[in-house]
Amino acid sequence: MSAYNGNNLSAKMFGPGFQWGVAMAAQQNEGAYMTDGRGLSIWDVFARRQGKIKNGDKPYNSCDFYYRYKDDLMLAKALGFNTFRFSLSWPRILPEGTGRVNKEGVAFYNKVIDECLKLGLKPYVTLYHWDLPQALEKEGGWTSYRILKWFNRYATVCAAEFGDRVKDWIILNEPMGFTSLGYMLGRHAPGKTGMSNFLPAVHHAALAQAEGGHIIRQLVDKAHIGTTFSCSEVIPYTDRDEDVMAAKRMDILMNRLFIEPALGRGYPKDDFKFLERLELHNKAWKYTQQMAFRFDFIGLQNYFPIVIRYNPIIPVIQASEVKAVSRKVPYTAMGWEINANSFYNIIRRFWLYGSVKEIIITENGAAFKDEVKNGVVNDTQRISYFQQHLAALLRAKHEGMNINGYLAWTLTDNFEWSEGYHARFGLIHVDFKTQLRTIKNSGYWFREFLAS
Ligand code: BGC
Repeated sequence: MSAYNGNNLSAKMFGPGFQWGVAMAAQQNEGAYMTDGRGLSIWDVFARRQGKIKNGDKPYNSCDFYYRYKDDLMLAKALGFNTFRFSLSWPRILPEGTGRVNKEGVAFYNKVIDECLKLGLKPYVTLYHWDLPQALEKEGGWTSYRILKWFNRYATVCAAEFGDRVKDWIILNEPMGFTSLGYMLGRHAPGKTGMSNFLPAVHHAALAQAEGGHIIRQLVDKAHIGTTFSCSEVIPYTDRDEDVMAAKRMDILMNRLFIEPALGRGYPKDDFKFLERLELHNKAWKYTQQMAFRFDFIGLQNYFPIVIRYNPIIPVIQASEVKAVSRKVPYTAMGWEINANSFYNIIRRFWLYGSVKEIIITENGAAFKDEVKNGVVNDTQRISYFQQHLAALLRAKHEGMNINGYLAWTLTDNFEWSEGYHARFGLIHVDFKTQLRTIKNSGYWFREFLAS
């Protein structure tokens, strides 16, 4: 257990030069979905389908970052952060996905980047945070091999336009997230299902991840290049063999499927025979080299652990989750278990690969049912979540893991994908009718913590 708890923690303990930031994404924050020549994204179209987004919410205005970026960046600065992670919207820059560059889209990101630099916020730019241009989805999206050519063009344009000022690049946001939810389970855009979509999407994302790294390396002087992985400690429900094996299969999918190709090890198929299909489907053994890239850092994104038990009814994986609520452990408004020790465990797991040079926590945070009462949001549970997780992080750092940044998810409440607007993750509350911002007590807590 950590010697630290929230109360005796201070930002100083993480050392000078530690990057403290907030993270957000274009589709979740910008709004302005038809403004200044932006093309449609798969999420704009997916949201029109009945029942896909809670309460029928639409991402069209979100929290209006497109018009309020100056204020929001100022707020990030005022809370004491020195780093700001945001994503570029592919359909804003290339409305047809490829070909013509939308100058106004580029101009918007130039303004955001310049404002960050003016305020002393280091811009961390994500190339792809799930908002594929709809024009490309019509051509097969991530299931098509041509995505590599399209992504190459997009990354090249971004490097050329922004690489003089942006040095910190993240190629993909959680490839496991968008391939599984969007191309296997159909719960996220573009809403595709089944292995015949999932397997090629995985393979193309793994290739694009490395390809994007090469492009930025080639075109951006002194670039610091990473990519992000979702990760969750997977805990077997019991120590019965069938539960242990089910947890192992889930762990391969959730934690190993994308990092191992990036590290040059190919897919983790030896421990999960099913993944041979991934290889056969894509003739992937030919591509081990192309899926590898020497990333300068790995972005880890963790929110919760999962507990898994054997379930023969579930195809392929034969495993299902035992939810936090039924296990009577603390959980967030998303139903996700709160467990900072597992945050430490999963960071350690990734560090133990041995070839990860540097870790940045590129997302971590929690949603709760926040309420504004007399102008105050007293989100004590979120404060406690951050305290516990930062204590666990400090423990990992003190044990010698090269961890150099922590980016909280997220600055303002925003569009939480298929959960719409009801799930609030922000340090700043947003009234989505008036766009009024109210700093939550967790935001003030960060300000004190960072000033300490
Ligand atoms: C994603 C974010 C999302 C967050 C909370 C991460 O998987 O990168 O876009 O809002 O989790 O669900």
